[in-house]
Amino acid sequence: MGKILGISIKNYGCLKNIRMGQLYSDRQADPLGNMVAIIGPSGNGKSTLADAFGFIADCISTDVESACDANNRGGYDQIVSQGSKDPIEFELYYKETSNSRPITYELTIAKDKTGRPYVQKERLRQRKANNKNGRPLSFLNLQEGKGYVFEGKDGGENEDGTVEGNKVEVSLNETRRLGIVALGAMKQYSRIEQFLSFLRSWYLCYFSPDAARQTQTAAPTAHLNRIGSNLNNVAQYMFRENASEFKKILSEIQSKIPNIDRIEPEKMPNGQMVLQFFQDGFKEPFYSPRMSDGTLKLFAYYLLLHEKDPRRLVFIEEPENGLYHQYLSALAGEMSKSVGTGYTKQLFVTTHSPFFVNALQPEQVWVLKKEADGFSTAKRASDYDLVDEMIEAGAQMGDLWYSKYFG
Ligand SMILES: Nc1ncnc2c1ncn2[C@@H]1O[C@H](COP(=O)(O)OP(=O)(O)O)[C@@H](O)[C@H]1O
Ligand SMILES: [Mg+2]
Repeated sequence: MGKILGISIKNYGCLKNIRMGQLYSDRQADPLGNMVAIIGPSGNGKSTLADAFGFIADCISTDVESACDANNRGGYDQIVSQGSKDPIEFELYYKETSNSRPITYELTIAKDKTGRPYVQKERLRQRKANNKNGRPLSFLNLQEGKGYVFEGKDGGENEDGTVEGNKVEVSLNETRRLGIVALGAMKQYSRIEQFLSFLRSWYLCYFSPDAARQTQTAAPTAHLNRIGSNLNNVAQYMFRENASEFKKILSEIQSKIPNIDRIEPEKMPNGQMVLQFFQDGFKEPFYSPRMSDGTLKLFAYYLLLHEKDPRRLVFIEEPENGLYHQYLSALAGEMSKSVGTGYTKQLFVTTHSPFFVNALQPEQVWVLKKEADGFSTAKRASDYDLVDEMIEAGAQMGDLWYSKYFG
């Protein structure tokens, strides 16, 4: 469970200072919903935003220095906002369930004297249980790897230094790794463990139809990987977990993929799973290597929406690429429906497609705009004049965008 209510990013490429949704310092703002679509002209920071999420995920799975170098980022100096002397900062405002107390996570990454990136500051805050309006207490606070952490589910240090609960002084011997990763591995820090498990479940999707066409050796896998090259293995996993449910899922997906009559899994003698796509007008099935990019993509996205034990935060860049425009509104509608309003799934999508956006509501759409100084700002479509009124009068979001009411 869990979702982010808001995020603030500082000094990450063209995102020198952006805020989206609700943060502790801006509690009046509306929280992010479960479906967040990000639009804006090319070069306005959509991919940078997706990459900021990817960067945080990489910091967790490796360390901050490796994250700076990974995925073509080119190192700290390339990532940090040009001309800025300040470090890279992230702030996440997170909530586990509807009645949990929100958690604020702050992370600052800077360069040390030798020029290597390291974790300069890390802090977790949460207000005390049964204290609706109190100020949050820090239950992890590290500077240069040194500081304190609190055991258990409650407690922390007040700003005036008073302490509630079990405070433990810590000194990490490694400042390139996140403190939440080191400490979240220990049972006594259950709040950190829970938050970390949320961050670990993020999925950045860069689906590549060519990768999905490659033959995979049998290896049932619960989740699609970054490029979708294990599509058949995920199908194999779902089939193994519950064959009849998987067949139901396939028939539901098939009803959403135009010109596909049926999709059937077939297990080969060597254990591999292949998917057979039966197309209108043909008797024999086609296998995934012969399917069109668009069909494979639609199939992968719909399969993603049906994942058992879904990733709690998914980020997809430009799902419309390679898809016929008429399919996009239905896809966006299904995505919105699948994430619902609870705390199990949150989906971020960047898009250039008014057709996709047509299925969305004003508060689900965010506009990234490049200002005169070269850095981007983020604004909710519902905060533009007339948008809400036009929607109430029956207009659709994509049409308003196309007609320049926003974006
Ligand atoms: N270190 C940096 N500081 C400031 N701007 C940067 C930095 N690195 C890249 N940029 C700029 O950020 C923008 C990145 O755009 P991008 O996120 O790819 O946009 P989109 O996905 O919306 O097309 C480009 O205009 C690029 O010049
Ligand atoms: Mg882009």
